[in-house]
Amino acid sequence: MIGNTIKKVLGLTVSAAILSFCVPFSVSADDKNDKSYINSGSNAGDESDTAYETADCIGRVASRQNLNYTYEKGGDGFKDYMGPYFRLGAAVTGYEINKTVAQEFIKKNYNSITCMNEMKPDSIIAGVNGDEVDISLNSAKAILKFAEHNGIGVHGHTFVWYSQTPSYLFQDNHEYVSKERMNKRLESMIKNTFSELRSQFPNLQVHSYDVCNELFINDGGGMRPESGSNWAKVYGEGNSEFVVNAFKYAREYAPEDCKLYLSDYNEYMSKKTDDLIDMAKKIMKEGDYIDGIGMQAHLISRYSSASEFETAIKQFEALGLDIQITELDISSSTGPVDELYPQIFEVAMKHAKNISCVTLSRTTDESVWRTDDYIRLPFSNYQPKNFYYDIIALADKIDPPTVTTTNTLTTTTTTTTTTTTTNTATTTVSATTTAPVDIKELLDSKVSIWGDANCDDNIDMSDTVIIMQSLANPNKYKLTEQGAANADVYEAGVGITTNDAASIQKYLLGIIKSLPESYSSNVTASK
Ligand code: GLA
Repeated sequence: MIGNTIKKVLGLTVSAAILSFCVPFSVSADDKNDKSYINSGSNAGDESDTAYETADCIGRVASRQNLNYTYEKGGDGFKDYMGPYFRLGAAVTGYEINKTVAQEFIKKNYNSITCMNEMKPDSIIAGVNGDEVDISLNSAKAILKFAEHNGIGVHGHTFVWYSQTPSYLFQDNHEYVSKERMNKRLESMIKNTFSELRSQFPNLQVHSYDVCNELFINDGGGMRPESGSNWAKVYGEGNSEFVVNAFKYAREYAPEDCKLYLSDYNEYMSKKTDDLIDMAKKIMKEGDYIDGIGMQAHLISRYSSASEFETAIKQFEALGLDIQITELDISSSTGPVDELYPQIFEVAMKHAKNISCVTLSRTTDESVWRTDDYIRLPFSNYQPKNFYYDIIALADKIDPPTVTTTNTLTTTTTTTTTTTTTNTATTTVSATTTAPVDIKELLDSKVSIWGDANCDDNIDMSDTVIIMQSLANPNKYKLTEQGAANADVYEAGVGITTNDAASIQKYLLGIIKSLPESYSSNVTASK
């Protein structure tokens, strides 16, 4: 890496006029938030739990978790209380994400987002052409942009589902297609989705994906029959070929750090638990394709008990896979939800070493997910309810998975003799083999020359132009992976924005002496 040792700087004929053509900027650098914590480890390994006594098992679960998320130690967001245990998410709609109150609420409280409907098959499938499936992420765009811009990870939901999937995916001229053609369409859908995600949202972290959702009938008895699933109509009842294939394709085309889940509802009911375990084992037998079980956790107060839920968690843990709670909500149809919520969180926090993420099915009571009126969240009108405080109080009571905290003191002296001291703490989990990540070092190592967006070994106005073009017309102008790493100079780690072009101009004008202008303290980095 060349870092700031710049070979030559060309094109220094920039003027203030050119500067204002691009973007307005403020010369004073933003304050660095020095309280952001990066959980870069694995939370596996608690000797007290007999299910995890073997080292082999510990290693397997650890490697199946994406724990590259940030939270603020001592912060008062929901995610900050839960950060030492797991990533915390909420599902949102494209409509809700445009509201400022929702945006601020999400930024404060969550480090994961699930699209409520916008990434379901009927939202992303734009058309089918023979073996090919065209994918459009337009419905999800506002949510994914928001997540990308704010460094919030996304849980993808979902590829294979009996519901909300266009019937033309399974047919040619209203006739069901062959298994061979369907395999190709399945592969194409998965491949093209990841490729669109990568090209349109290069700095977005899709930390995990529900590859298959709700495969089974309600209370045991195996997979959905032909009468309830177009997948069964093509592959035949009870045939799980498409499930294994979906995981195989997802593993092939998903980014390396995107973990893959089999998800269902009523998963805590013993017969459904068994169905999920049998299917997970089937997939595991075929190869290293699945990372975890997604427990939707649509619960009902006074009916689904926390101990029943914990029994299911223990059974899933015994698979050696990760667990995510993916759509947690509690219906108040049989009484108040105030007691069950803290009980469920208590169970999740106690099993946190094997639970990488807990996602609420929506943000606040008023946002729509399930059609009945009884679903209650810990928030109403984006304000915490009383039992929310019972949930966060658990953090004083339950030990998080063992962590070691390393404090690194970094002192940066600028040319104006201002000294900025940043105290960064990296939280890692003792059972992991991953070394603490120094974000600055990690970003530097990915860069050939800071500011050299077009990778021509120079820093000049053409770098600012290509950044602006790539933002204005991403289909036509694309930064290469190296170019994008080099160009991320305003708040390194945050991704490409117009501020990066402005930083390069400031550098060319001599207003700042080196690039990057700053490093983000709110960055999720993958190795
Ligand atoms: C399932 C799906 C969700 C949502 C709910 C609605 O749980 O996985 O995406 O559609 O149903 O009840």
